[in-house]
Amino acid sequence: MEKITLNSPFDMHIHLRDGDMLKLVAPLSSHTFCGGIIMPNLVPPLDTKEAVVAYKNRILEAIGSDDFTPFMTLFFKPYTKEFLEDVKDEISAIKLYPAGITTNSEGGVSVIDTEALAPTLNAMAELNIPLCVHGETNGFVMDREKEFMSVYEALAVAFPKLKIIMEHITTKEAVELVQKYDNLYATITLQHLFITLDDVAGGMLKPHLFCKPIAKRPEDKEALLNIALSGHSKIMFGSDSAPHPKHKKEACGCAAGVFTSPIALQVLVELFETHGKLENLEKFVSQNAIDIYKLTPSSKAITLVKKDFVVPEAYEGFGEVVVPMYAGETIKWSLEK
Ligand code: NCD
Ligand code: ZN
Repeated sequence: MEKITLNSPFDMHIHLRDGDMLKLVAPLSSHTFCGGIIMPNLVPPLDTKEAVVAYKNRILEAIGSDDFTPFMTLFFKPYTKEFLEDVKDEISAIKLYPAGITTNSEGGVSVIDTEALAPTLNAMAELNIPLCVHGETNGFVMDREKEFMSVYEALAVAFPKLKIIMEHITTKEAVELVQKYDNLYATITLQHLFITLDDVAGGMLKPHLFCKPIAKRPEDKEALLNIALSGHSKIMFGSDSAPHPKHKKEACGCAAGVFTSPIALQVLVELFETHGKLENLEKFVSQNAIDIYKLTPSSKAITLVKKDFVVPEAYEGFGEVVVPMYAGETIKWSLEK
C-alpha cells in the first residue's frame, strides 16, 4: 500500500476553544500535528500572562499524552515593553483582529493607525515577537481582504523588523503582496485551497463551509493553490480550524468557521499528490513554519496510507457536537493505525 510519512507537522493557526469544546477538539489536532499556533479569541480574550499560562495548561490537560506543543498567542491591544518582556517566554506571537470582524473580535483594534500602534509594534519587533493579523476591513464582504492590502503594506514599511503573518489569506492580491516585502509571511487554510464562494452559496447554502474570510473567486483559489503547492518559503499551513457547535452552524445566523483539524493532513496529502507536488508538502506543513517562527522540530512523524476514509458525520463528546468539512464524504488517505 502506498504510504507517506510527514515529519513534524505544524498547524500554524488553530482555534481550540475552551471547556467542553476544548476537550473534544484538542485531541483531534494533537493526534496528527506536533504543535500549532493557538489563537486567543476566547471570551474574555487572552490579554494577560496569567490567562495565557492558565489556558495553555487547560490545553495540555485536554491533549493528554500526545506529543503536541501549543504555541500561545496574546490578543493584540496596546501593551508596554515591560509587559511584553515579562510575557515573552510564554507566547509565540500576538494576534491582531480588527474590531468586530470575526468570532469574538469585539475587543479588537478599531483603527489601524501605524503611529498610534508604534510603541507596541516597535517593542514587539525588538523582542522578536511576530504579529499575526486577521486582514479584513469592514467593507463589502468580497472586498474586505483586498482593501486591507494597504494596511499590510503600511505595517510592513513602518515596521521593517517586525515579522508580520498575513493570516488565512484568500485572494490573489494577498499572494502577490506577501512576496513583495521581506517581513511579510502568510498562512493558508485547507478550505481556501478547495472552495470558492460558489461552493458556499452558489447552490444550496453550505453552512459548514462558511468562514471568515469568506472563500473568494476561482482565480483567487488558483493563486493560493499555486503558491502553496510550490512550497514557497513564506507560506505556512494554518488550518484556521474553527469549531462551532452543530446547532450554531445549522442555524438562522450561522457562525463563521470551518472545522478541519481531524482531516487536514489526509486531505493535504491527496491535494499535493493530485498535483504531483508531494515533494513540497513537508515545506508547507512543517519546514517553513520552523524557519519563520524559529521552532525546534519535533521527533513526531505521521504516516498516512492511501486507503479510503469516510469522514464522520460529526465528532461528539463532552456534550458537544461538531461537524467537520467533508462530513460523510470519502477521502483517499487515512492515518496509519
Ligand atoms: C474563527 C473563529 O470561529 O474563531 N472563524 C472563522 O471563520 N475563521 C475566527 C477567525 O479566524 O476569523
Ligand atoms: Zn482564525
